[in-house]
Amino acid sequence: MKRGARTLALALALTFAAGPGQADEPPAEVLARANPFAGDPDAIRRGKGLFLENCAPCHGAAADGRGPGAVGLRPPPADLSGPDVVPRHPDGWLFWRIANGKRGTAMPPFAFALTEAERWSIVSWLRSLQPPPAAAPGSAAGRPGAVAPLASAH
Ligand code: HEC
Repeated sequence: MKRGARTLALALALTFAAGPGQADEPPAEVLARANPFAGDPDAIRRGKGLFLENCAPCHGAAADGRGPGAVGLRPPPADLSGPDVVPRHPDGWLFWRIANGKRGTAMPPFAFALTEAERWSIVSWLRSLQPPPAAAPGSAAGRPGAVAPLASAH
């Protein structure tokens, strides 16, 4: 990367890192970004590897918040496998949170350690841990023997 581009990237990252007085929430344009690798099996596989390397020490290999490094952290690392975090936020929110960390907690920013593609891949893997939304009772995918529409789309 050229020096100027590097400085610009740093300035942008610092802006996004929400300094004192700024909201610790993503701006609307980031929130609205779609995951370019949503549901992509290769990205999901890569995302899992990246998660094990970078996140599992705190969030645990199963993303349930019980990594070996979680001991003593207040607040404790979030459970990213259950219904409380991932299903409640759009992909852009998760992407932004991974890049910027979470103020007042041990959650570090990964804007420099991980590329955008790597962060999206982790989001893809986290989504893959959730039951498919179509599996609601009464829907086609919820019926025994039915093929989930998402899984058959490839
Ligand atoms: C040093 C320990 C640590 C590491 C490493 C870490 N996290 Fe976290 N993470 C935390 C803590 C602590 C929180 C705060 C939980 C809370 O606010 O209740 C958190 C929060 C989060 C949240 C937001 C949850 C919420 O509801 O606000 C997401 C998403 C997340 N982490 C994803 C990741 C991902 C993905 C990685 C790897 C790229 C990662 N974390 C690496 C400790 C860590």
